[in-house]
Amino acid sequence: MKVTFTKERETLLATLYGRALDARSRDPILGDTMASSTVDRIDYDFGRLKMTPSLARNVAVRAKHFDNWARAFLANHPRATVVHLGAGLDTRLWRIDPGPDVLWFDVDYPDVVELRHELYPEHQTIGSSVTEPGWETQIPADRPTLLLAEGLSMYLTPDGGHALFRRLTDHFGQGELAFDSFNSLAIKLQKRNPPVRASGATLIWAIDDPHEIEQANPRLHLVEALQALYAPGTQRLTFGYRLVAQLVRPFKRMRNLSFYLRYRF
Ligand SMILES: C[S@@+](CC[C@H](N)C(=O)[O-])C[C@H]1O[C@@H](n2cnc3c(N)ncnc32)[C@H](O)[C@@H]1O
Repeated sequence: MKVTFTKERETLLATLYGRALDARSRDPILGDTMASSTVDRIDYDFGRLKMTPSLARNVAVRAKHFDNWARAFLANHPRATVVHLGAGLDTRLWRIDPGPDVLWFDVDYPDVVELRHELYPEHQTIGSSVTEPGWETQIPADRPTLLLAEGLSMYLTPDGGHALFRRLTDHFGQGELAFDSFNSLAIKLQKRNPPVRASGATLIWAIDDPHEIEQANPRLHLVEALQALYAPGTQRLTFGYRLVAQLVRPFKRMRNLSFYLRYRF
C-alpha cells in the first residue's frame, strides 16, 4: 500500500518504524510484532527517516511507558473510555487488548484513520484534527476517561493545546490525561533530530513547567511528571544514551528536556 504523508503525518511512520525495528531486534523492549508486519505492508522508503536502532529503542521505551499507564488506568477503571489522540498507526489497542467493557477511540486526521482502517482490524476511530472543536461529542461522556496523547503535544500551538484540553475535560468530566511534552530547548534540538528533519514537520509547543497545564485548566491536577531521560525502562537504552543522560543531569533545562505527564481531572 503506497503512503505519501508529509510533515507531522509523516512522523507517524518514523515511530511505527521505530517500534518495528525494536520488534526485529535481538532483545525487544516493546516487541510490537504487529508494527513490524505493518511496515512490510506499506510501500514507503522507510530508510528516508534515518531511524537508527538506538533511536528505535527510545521509541519503544516511550511507547511501553504509555502502555503501562494505560494498563494501570484500566485496572482501576475496567469500564472506561480511552481516547487515543494523534494515534497515527500505533497498535496500542492490540498491545493492550482491553476487552469488551472498554470503549476505545483512535483519533487522528481523516486520511490517517482511513489508512488505519485499510491496515488494521475493525476498530473505532474519529478522523479529525484534534484541535477542530466538536469531534469529542461523538464519544459518550458517562465513564471515567483516559485521554492519551503520545508524540502529539509538540505539533500543537500552545493556545490550540490548552483549548483542546479544556474542551476534553469539560466534555468527559472525570478521568486522566497522559501525554509527553518537550521543553523549549528540546524543541530547538529536535529540529536536528533526523526523522523530524526528514519529514519537515514543525515542532511548536514547548512546555517548560508541567504546572503550566494546571494554570491554563484548573480542572487538571498534576499527578506525575517523569523526566523522560531517566524514566523507567531507560536502563535498557544504549550505553552512550545513558552516559549523556548522566552527564547532563546537573543542568535543569537538559534533564527536563522531555516529560511524561499524567494529570487527573
Ligand atoms: C509522532 S506521530 C505519533 C503517532 C503515534 N502516537 C505514535 O506514537 O506512533 C504524531 C501524530 O500526531 C498526529 N497529529 C499531529 N497534529 C494533529 C492534529 N492537529 N490532529 C490530529 N492528529 C494530529 C499526526 O498525524 C501523527 O499521527
